[in-house]
Amino acid sequence: MSKRPIRSIKGTQDILPDQSFRWQALESIIRDTMDKYNYHEIRTPAFENTALFLHSVGEETDIVSKEMYSWEDQGGENLTLKPELTAPVARSFIQNNLGGLNPINKLYYIDSLFRRERPQKGRYRQFHQFGIEAFGSEFPEIDVEVIALAMSTFKNLELNGLTLELNSIGSKDCRDNFRKAIKEYLKPNFDKLSETSQTRFNKNPLRILDTKSPDEKRLLKDGPKISDYWTSDDKNHFNEVCELLDKINIKFELSPNLVRGLDYYTRTTFEVTSNLLGAQNAICGGGRYDGLVEQLGGKPTPGIGFAAGMERLLLADQRNFEPTKSQIYIVGLGDSVRSLIVNLAEELRKNNFRTNFDVLRRSIKSQMRDANKLDAQYVIIIGEEELSKNIATIKDLSSGDQKEIPFESILNHIKSLPLK
Ligand code: HAM
Repeated sequence: MSKRPIRSIKGTQDILPDQSFRWQALESIIRDTMDKYNYHEIRTPAFENTALFLHSVGEETDIVSKEMYSWEDQGGENLTLKPELTAPVARSFIQNNLGGLNPINKLYYIDSLFRRERPQKGRYRQFHQFGIEAFGSEFPEIDVEVIALAMSTFKNLELNGLTLELNSIGSKDCRDNFRKAIKEYLKPNFDKLSETSQTRFNKNPLRILDTKSPDEKRLLKDGPKISDYWTSDDKNHFNEVCELLDKINIKFELSPNLVRGLDYYTRTTFEVTSNLLGAQNAICGGGRYDGLVEQLGGKPTPGIGFAAGMERLLLADQRNFEPTKSQIYIVGLGDSVRSLIVNLAEELRKNNFRTNFDVLRRSIKSQMRDANKLDAQYVIIIGEEELSKNIATIKDLSSGDQKEIPFESILNHIKSLPLK
């Protein structure tokens, strides 16, 4: 009886060789851009104490209340697969005293994350982000550097149709006052609010601004604005961020309701959307989190960062490039040539030629077909007859030209060929 094969988990994806080369190209552009801005990579564990996310992302957020993969392990510890990276990086920053070693720490990551969301195009349960976290400066220059780094990576990826939305959700005092004001304003209409907004009203009123409902949007239009509650420092900070962005020609749209779905944000918040994607059009989100390090038990340290979804970047990436191809294919026939071919293939690889040979002991005809399928540029043919004369036939697959070359000169001959 044949067994039913086990399948992957809903919302997860295999990245097969016909796609993995696109991931590698994306990662290489990201690393090159990080290098220009002098950000250094940090890698953190796949799972953390559940408490880390409760105390940073926030208990009432969608991520913590509905989407985390959490479990109690055999030792009774509550653990969670990381649903985001700002909190783990802040935890590591504190634990390793990075702030004591350097006043500014500019860190980046490329990693896998886990959220139990409803899967759809551009939304998965295991997905990947690249992102940065910059600790140590409260000044607008770093806000602008962080945003410029995001935009510059997208430019290097040749992405079009992007919109940068920008807002400031102010300091803690500003948000406390705004929360009171928005509740006051919405109270008479509480019964008309959606269930989600009613829950948010009680638990996290700022998030009501995130509503998708046109009726609620209309209602909010005439309500209090966060900007009315900015302190003068908040206002100056935000104005300076906007002015500096103008200076370096980064276009943005002011988005007064952009509050983001995680609790740790303060002041600058931003998102980048792409008009090439459907419903899940946010390719990047970020902002300041000046209180986070202190909240997690570290010394008060301002911070700002962003993260971008790699699956979404690849969906928006219209570039047409191809994986590297095989350069040389060695075609052989007969028991006596086998060890010679294995040896020659190794020799060519040591000399950096991308080399294949047949490992299925197929006929010459099928080996030639395989060489064509792999898009090899040249084949080296060694049959019994060639072996007896100590020569190999080298054929250019695009022109069909072929030449006989003595064994001892094969490597030098290959080195002289115009290989792509
Ligand atoms: P986030 O907005 O939750 O922020 O996620 C950032 C990006 O990750 C989104 O804009 C989206 O491109 C991608 N993303 C999120 N969820 C999924 C999913 N289920 N499937 C595919 N892609 C997804 C954060 O994670 C913050 N930690 C960003 C940050 C860093 N803020 C400051 N520093």
